Amino acid sequence: MEQTRTRKLTEKERAELDRVTEVILQAKEKAYRETDSEPEPELTSAVDWPVQCTVGPGLEGAIAAETKIGYVNGTKGSLIYRGYDIFDLCAHSTFEETSYLLLHGRLPSTAELTQFTALLKRKMLIPRTHRLLMTFPVEEMLPMAALRLGTNLMRQKQTFRDQDTFLAEAKDHIATDDDSIPMETPPKGEKRSVFEFIRHIFSRPETAPSDLISSEEMESCYNLIGGVASVAAGIGRIRQGRMPLEPLPDLSLAGNYLYMLTGRRPTPLEERVMDVCLILHADHGMNASTFAAMVVASTLSDVYFAIGSGIAALSGPLHGGANVEVVQVLEEIGSPKNVTEWYKRAIKEHRKVPGFGHRVYKAYDPRARVLGPLSAMLAEADDNLKPLYETASKLEGEVVAALSEKKKIFPNVDFYSGIVYRSMGIDPHLYTTIFAVSRVAGWCARVMEYLEHNRIFRPRAIYTGTLNEQYVPIDQRSQPKGS
Ligand code: ACO
Repeated sequence: MEQTRTRKLTEKERAELDRVTEVILQAKEKAYRETDSEPEPELTSAVDWPVQCTVGPGLEGAIAAETKIGYVNGTKGSLIYRGYDIFDLCAHSTFEETSYLLLHGRLPSTAELTQFTALLKRKMLIPRTHRLLMTFPVEEMLPMAALRLGTNLMRQKQTFRDQDTFLAEAKDHIATDDDSIPMETPPKGEKRSVFEFIRHIFSRPETAPSDLISSEEMESCYNLIGGVASVAAGIGRIRQGRMPLEPLPDLSLAGNYLYMLTGRRPTPLEERVMDVCLILHADHGMNASTFAAMVVASTLSDVYFAIGSGIAALSGPLHGGANVEVVQVLEEIGSPKNVTEWYKRAIKEHRKVPGFGHRVYKAYDPRARVLGPLSAMLAEADDNLKPLYETASKLEGEVVAALSEKKKIFPNVDFYSGIVYRSMGIDPHLYTTIFAVSRVAGWCARVMEYLEHNRIFRPRAIYTGTLNEQYVPIDQRSQPKGS
């Protein structure tokens, strides 16, 4: 789908965009040829609670909720959002439209999409959160830690829960017009922050259009989908010692994320590729971060805290943090000719190869089916990217040959995403924040869906400790050895 643009595309740009769609449709064809996408009846039929299931460690196999949002068929390797195949959404949709689909349960009309896109664009204007963020040492924090902080700051004065009467009267704590932070005692050694926010042509309405808002929580979701992109980009800027930027009116959310990060208008190809990446990462069943967000929401905490928890869970190297490690490993390997030796050593050291394996997929991850050929296409046109892609491709061959039959290990979404982001010159430390910019749509949709029939999550643990210990006063206890 065409994004709003102020100028016509050149022939070369049009051809590049067509090539992206072709690559995605070829990936779809290959997936359909190689896999049989029948749904698993036990995971797609009507639910009659309580559900019988066999639960393994890490809640493997546990059924925690019903959903109409998305379905991962792990044995066949397919991914569906609201009934639509991920390949079709990547080929024909946009991140904005996909977010609407996830949140509202159906594809929008032209008028609804125009309104929703404009609304998200307004939600990207969050200078207050940026300004608050800039008073923290963001450049010394891990980007995901800063993003979580920024998400929780975004909550400030934006949720109805903060309007409870027991809360002290909210004041403008940060004097945003001058660059000082009022304190009771004079601050020592503070760094002065200079805020440079450019106002673009949007007006900033008090509230979003009422027909898109079904609840205060839904408005929080719109704030989050627009806001996380701006905060993530702002964190990238601050880490480069630069000032955050506000979005441009004619770019999509993906394009604006890139613009606000780099300070340079992305090319149509970059904007489209980033859009595909955001669509691919938007939702993925009851993964660890989605579950974390849902658990927090189920206590009737609020959406900002829930999404902050999703960000925290996503930051780990076993989840969204893997794409950072992939690029580090590919750089450590250095060249395709070193792959065999590196992989032999990794096997000997029982080292897991980042970007491979998945709790649910026991087949090729459909997201990697898109990102692999996309990174090949980008590497074709970029000599600096070629060695990285060729190393990845050789490593994939070796790992798949060794582990696909025996352990059903294939590349996952994280294996090629870093190469795609590298083609846009993005710092590897920011890769997981891009994952969050996209996944916030799925987190919000799942949280909103769960809240419709909320029941607090409260599993139990099997106690394997001792029983009936006698309490001994501290001065009568024997000292542990070595103390
Ligand atoms: N490289 C080599 N072997 C692997 C890998 C890997 N990346 N992943 C799993 N295996 C092996 C394990 O060693 C284990 O072998 P064993 O049965 O002989 O002991 C077997 O496959 C099963 O692995 P588990 O770790 O038990 O699988 P689990 O479902 O618990 O973990 C996980 C899934 C965490 C994704 C795992 O595959 C992994 O650590 N991968 C690397 C990190 C990564 O890429 N994470 C991103 C996942 S996608 C996402 O979250 C967005």
